[in-house]
Amino acid sequence: MSPQTTHMTEASLYLPVNCEIVAVIDLTPHEKLFRLRLVDGRPLGHLPGQFVQVSLLGWGEAPLSVASSPTRDGYFEMGVRRAGTLTAAMHELKAGDVIGIRGPFGRPFELPKLRGQDLLLISGGCGLAPMRSLIQYCEDRPEEFGSLTILYGAKSPADTLFKDDLAAWEASARFACSRTVDRITEGDCYSGGVGLVTALIPPLEIDPGRTVAVLVGPPVMYRAVVEELRKKGLDSDRIVVSLERHMRCGVGKCGHCTIEHLYCCQDGPVFWLNEIELLKGAL
Ligand SMILES: Cc1cc2nc3c(=O)[nH]c(=O)nc-3n(C[C@H](O)[C@H](O)[C@H](O)COP(=O)(O)OP(=O)(O)OC[C@H]3O[C@@H](n4cnc5c(N)ncnc54)[C@H](O)[C@@H]3O)c2cc1C
Ligand code: FES
Repeated sequence: MSPQTTHMTEASLYLPVNCEIVAVIDLTPHEKLFRLRLVDGRPLGHLPGQFVQVSLLGWGEAPLSVASSPTRDGYFEMGVRRAGTLTAAMHELKAGDVIGIRGPFGRPFELPKLRGQDLLLISGGCGLAPMRSLIQYCEDRPEEFGSLTILYGAKSPADTLFKDDLAAWEASARFACSRTVDRITEGDCYSGGVGLVTALIPPLEIDPGRTVAVLVGPPVMYRAVVEELRKKGLDSDRIVVSLERHMRCGVGKCGHCTIEHLYCCQDGPVFWLNEIELLKGAL
């Protein structure tokens, strides 16, 4: 059992609890935001970077990141892409419907090590969902951190997640926030940058001795971003990555999520780069 799940009994690791959908909000044509609360009134008890196993009777189970910060009381949120069986069924649900939740599971972002540091929060595509939990945490506890820089890349303006949050972070004096899209098409209403998220890194002024970069995005993003960060002098012990693997149990039993000797569901999904960079197939 990981340190994050030691408070759970063996049985509660496997037993879903009921969770009511409080609101469903369209984010893009393919992604929706679900605001939820546990039916028994307890807080979820998660930390930024953790995930839950969501179940729907007859449709199965899937790991989904918590997209809101534990500092926001009374509810938690998930940004869900319609990817297949379970997530398509979820997209049909409405406020008042009930789903099953196991968790929270996994190793979170290591807040004690992030405190006092300048944070460079880089995400791509759906990676903004787990990153949003950390960003909201920083927003609610600004005194705990140095400078806060958000970089986000999406495929297109239509694919950009959490547009309202991005606009608020751009307007906030506490964050430096830049975003980009891979491409625009005629008729798009868009005023940000065009290009890969890596292009946002070279202009930044970074103090490599007091900066931690946190990366969440598609696998293709990691190598290119890490290369740019190295040019800025950031070592692997100052780079955090969150990895996605096919998962079944979520609690270190089935072996579906392994990266060599590591279980992504328990040892991760959050890793320091120096823990995994030499492992085959990790990045
Ligand atoms: C720790 C973790 C956190 C995640 N957080 C989120 C999140 O916040 N929001 C979100 O929308 N999605 C997230 N995902 C991805 C999500 O779990 C999958 O999209 C989901 O399992 C699909 O379930 P399904 O039944 O709808 O699709 P299925 O019908 O099971 O599969 C549809 C397709 O997606 C592929 N697939 C399933 N799981 C994965 C995976 N882990 N990686 C790559 N391909 C996969 C399948 O092979 C298949 O081709 C996360 C995954 C992990 C491991
Ligand atoms: S998902 Fe079963 S061991 Fe990780």
